[in-house]
Amino acid sequence: MSPASALLPTTLVLSLRDIDVTRDGHPALRGVDARAHAGRLLVVVGPNGSGKSTLLSVAAGLLSADRGVVEMRPHTHITLLPQSTALAPHLPLTVADVVAMGTWARLGAWRPSRRADRDAVTEAIAAVELTELARRPVGTLSGGQRQRALLAQVLVQRADLVLLDEPMAGLDARSRAIIAASIARLTQAGAAVIAVTHDPAEFASIDDVLELHDGRVRA
Ligand SMILES: Nc1ncnc2c1ncn2[C@@H]1O[C@H](COP(=O)(O)OP(=O)(O)OP(=O)(O)O)[C@@H](O)[C@H]1O
Ligand SMILES: [Mg+2]
Repeated sequence: MSPASALLPTTLVLSLRDIDVTRDGHPALRGVDARAHAGRLLVVVGPNGSGKSTLLSVAAGLLSADRGVVEMRPHTHITLLPQSTALAPHLPLTVADVVAMGTWARLGAWRPSRRADRDAVTEAIAAVELTELARRPVGTLSGGQRQRALLAQVLVQRADLVLLDEPMAGLDARSRAIIAASIARLTQAGAAVIAVTHDPAEFASIDDVLELHDGRVRA
């Protein structure tokens, strides 16, 4: 590589190469390659137990690979929305509180919110069409409303790498459309997004697809 090409901007945010992961003595990922690029949506599909959530855990740095190479662009800010997130029913937090928590990663929790962060929270709540419910305790939301609140929290984080595990599973058409639009906002803002799904048709547009079967990438 010439010195000039080394200075070219790269869109590669995450590269996984030849990844093996064993869980409970069983291979969960075998020789998996995956790449996430800034401004692109990578959709991960495959049957139950094929290793999709395991792949996101490796990408998030929550699980280490037994073999292979994980390369992340320096200073990458990552966020993960896990599969079917439970929220305690009596959690004394409103929708606005939960979304505002997304700004903490950048602010430091001890500092007061800046105007820009408050505006970003308001805008994200509007983007997921929860403005009327902004003061409601999150424990009182329906499943679809809760998932939209969590997506708003993801939006305000301005992460470079966004990992979404079945973000639309079990939701109605309206909530799915709102979440699909939020994902499109994330890629338009330059984030690399990896989303797991059983139904690729639920996304507005897809840039790359990775199909897993029994822990292996299907060509
Ligand atoms: N916490 C865990 N401890 C041990 N084994 C696990 C754990 N989580 C997943 N596994 C195993 O790892 C393999 C891959 O599971 P994974 O959750 O990644 O699949 P998935 O593709 O996300 O499935 P689903 O569509 O059901 O969410 C499976 O054999 C599963 O039993
Ligand atoms: Mg899963």
